[in-house]
Amino acid sequence: MTAQIIDGKAVAVELRATVAARVAALGYSPGLTVILVGDDPASAVYVRSKDRAAREAGINAQTIRLPADAPEARLLGEIARLNADPDVDGILVQLPLPRHIDTDRVVEAIDPQKDVDGFHPLNVGALANGRPALVPCTPSGVMKLLRHTGVKLTGARALVLGRSSIVGRPLAHLLLAADATITVAHSRTNDIAAECRRAEILIAATGRPEMVRGDWISPGATVIDVGINRLPDGRLVGDVHYEECRQRAGAITPVPGGVGPMTIACLLENTVEAAIRRRR
Ligand code: GUN
Repeated sequence: MTAQIIDGKAVAVELRATVAARVAALGYSPGLTVILVGDDPASAVYVRSKDRAAREAGINAQTIRLPADAPEARLLGEIARLNADPDVDGILVQLPLPRHIDTDRVVEAIDPQKDVDGFHPLNVGALANGRPALVPCTPSGVMKLLRHTGVKLTGARALVLGRSSIVGRPLAHLLLAADATITVAHSRTNDIAAECRRAEILIAATGRPEMVRGDWISPGATVIDVGINRLPDGRLVGDVHYEECRQRAGAITPVPGGVGPMTIACLLENTVEAAIRRRR
């Protein structure tokens, strides 16, 4: 069997068009401000992509760039100013932050209504309670890809590999809300391969290149690869060994072109949602 390839790029293009149409119908341009601290090259690429995609959807995007040695108080000052600005609907502080800055303090300083990343404890708590408000972008994109494939979530055995605050944990809550049966496996799990072999839906978010091997995949399973890793030889690979796993999976996302494009599209959707709710 060869798997159906889940075309995240195409689904993202569709979602971005939907967002652009919603923006056009609003009669105003939602505001999104992205803050980048320092000069991490990967973060700079992500921030540029977010800014460009937002503008293309008709969102009033701006990026604030602060030097790597900017004091935490300066960042908190910018956030306070953006919280108070009625034209700003979404605030996103690109992570990771330099080590001298307390990430939790920064995230908690963002107005939860403008928290388009869904990282503020109020939004995290709402999601954990099954009353989602603003939902983190990558997990939201994964759910849309699963729905796009048509795989049955109700009652299905879903395995989330990885327990990060950005992906694994929120994803587990979203799958639970969709009535899947959830296992979260992580670096301390006794037998990760055995957990994978039981999964009808497998989502890999470990940050370990090509960790999930072909013989870990239950035949016909749906495999979503959140990883994006640059190998020493320059190749870009996911957390899943794609060539091996696509021989057994029923459906699988490629890297690149799977989850990545969905993250940005969901950020645009969150910005529109935040604007509509806050201005109502
Ligand atoms: N760094 C990696 N992923 C993310 C994300 O989804 N949001 C932010 N703010 N930073 C990130």
